[in-house]
Amino acid sequence: MTTTTKRLEGKVAIITGGASGIGECTAILFADHGAKIVIADIQDQLGQSVCEAIGPANSIYVRCDVTNEEDVKKVVDTAISTYGKLDIMFCNAGIVDPNKARIVDIEKTDFERVLNVNVTGVFLGMKHAARVMVPARSGSIISMASLASNIGGAASHAYTCSKHAVAGLTKNLAVELGQSGIRVNCLSPYAMVTPLASSFMGLEAEALVDLLSSRANLRGVTLTTYDVANGALFLASDEAKYISGQNMSIDGGLSIVNPSFDMFKYPRDL
Ligand SMILES: NC(=O)c1ccc[n+]([C@@H]2O[C@H](COP(=O)([O-])OP(=O)(O)OC[C@H]3O[C@@H](n4cnc5c(N)ncnc54)[C@H](O)[C@@H]3O)[C@@H](O)[C@H]2O)c1
Repeated sequence: MTTTTKRLEGKVAIITGGASGIGECTAILFADHGAKIVIADIQDQLGQSVCEAIGPANSIYVRCDVTNEEDVKKVVDTAISTYGKLDIMFCNAGIVDPNKARIVDIEKTDFERVLNVNVTGVFLGMKHAARVMVPARSGSIISMASLASNIGGAASHAYTCSKHAVAGLTKNLAVELGQSGIRVNCLSPYAMVTPLASSFMGLEAEALVDLLSSRANLRGVTLTTYDVANGALFLASDEAKYISGQNMSIDGGLSIVNPSFDMFKYPRDL
């Protein structure tokens, strides 16, 4: 990639959950676009190997449980002490609870664990990013929501709550940090093959793709981590310099379809 096509040249990004799935793909894409990368995760070996793939001159791995404020503070401080600043915070780390359909079967501990990682973890990432971005009066904070932030019935109760909360937090923080020139957005993809989705659905990659394709609105293409990483790249880059407070769907239009009224799939004279 030439300097003119690199969209994050000179920028510094933290990616939570950067050791696997969407976070890993985004770390590699951001680095290809010239960013210095700090990977924050709890899977040390995977995190280190992503850094090796990127190259040690342009990336570091910091062990960080996003639910632990000291860990999150340390990651942000490490970005500053290593690379001198923080331009992009991607609060991407997330988990699912066991796949149970009925609320009466769901354990309080499972519910709380999901909210702790998916909401409190995002809150802490935003808080410590703001701590260093506000004095700099610039930055882009991107968080990971989901299709489940827009509609009911797409995921578990805990996961749906958590992703609605991320979308709400994104809006509220965009209002506060807009005063300091900082943009705050989130991404809401449909499902795709990653370790998280495979374990939740109990399906290997091929079977998962078949199932997801059969439920998709947009046919003939398959959503991948690369598509989501490209969404993050856009929101992180200066091309999105006036975009803030948005929950950007990457779902092929699925969240705007009400299948009960799909006159295109079930054409009939009314
Ligand atoms: N895969 C999908 O279909 C899909 C769809 C929409 C949204 N998402 C969201 O995308 C994000 C990334 O998920 P993924 O599918 O790439 O999953 P993944 O399991 O491949 O990656 C998630 C990463 O987060 C890390 N993580 C988990 N708990 C953590 C903690 N407490 N502290 C630090 N790191 C932690 C994991 O170690 C892992 O590396 C999640 O927020 C998820 O909810 C995924």
